[in-house]
Amino acid sequence: MNIAISASILGSDLSNLKNEIQRIESAGADMIHFDVMDGIFVDNISFGIPVLASIKKYTSVTLDVHLMIINPLKYIEQFANAGADIITFHYESSSDINETIDRIHSYGKKAGLSIKPNTPLAGIIKYLHKLDMVLIMTVEPGFGGQGFIKSSLDKISALRSVIDDKGLNVDIQVDGGINDTTASLVRGAGANNLVSGSYLFNAKYTAEAISMLKS
Ligand code: DX5
Ligand code: ZN
Repeated sequence: MNIAISASILGSDLSNLKNEIQRIESAGADMIHFDVMDGIFVDNISFGIPVLASIKKYTSVTLDVHLMIINPLKYIEQFANAGADIITFHYESSSDINETIDRIHSYGKKAGLSIKPNTPLAGIIKYLHKLDMVLIMTVEPGFGGQGFIKSSLDKISALRSVIDDKGLNVDIQVDGGINDTTASLVRGAGANNLVSGSYLFNAKYTAEAISMLKS
């Protein structure tokens, strides 16, 4: 399986964002993962639309936006116009799921749906046929640098079986606590898109760290 690496800039030196993105791009990251937090859906506030629009001006890499906000539907247009390529929102948010997926697609963007560690897989199965990606959170959303929650491995393999049984082409992304040890576990369970923040941005040799995540 082809593995994509999405570098979470929440783990970067944000005072030096342009250089951090160029560094991670030239080291071979496939995507930039952009964590948006509103202080309501999660207990933290990160960055948003104007920062995304600034990044878009100097990078050509795929912009993978992860919305940890209570009302994603309201902001899809703005994130799409600011340059998002993939927009992932949470099943636990208050927006209508079908309407939000359709809104993302209406701007020609890929749609992802995410579940938190304690949310069972069952609820999202009925949306799989219209999704481009499912994001299985492997930590409680809100902060970088947390430890990987091992029980998410069962969820990843169950989702992989459903996707393969249905013959669908839906990416499985994982986010939280991904490093050279946990990467092989999630790949083995069937994830093909790995988000990594603190591990990648703190690595001494970034290109090597990326290849460790891939194989
Ligand atoms: C957490 C964010 C993650 C975070 C991952 O809520 O969604 O993307 O930046 O950071 P690490 O890789 O350090 O766990
Ligand atoms: Zn994220």
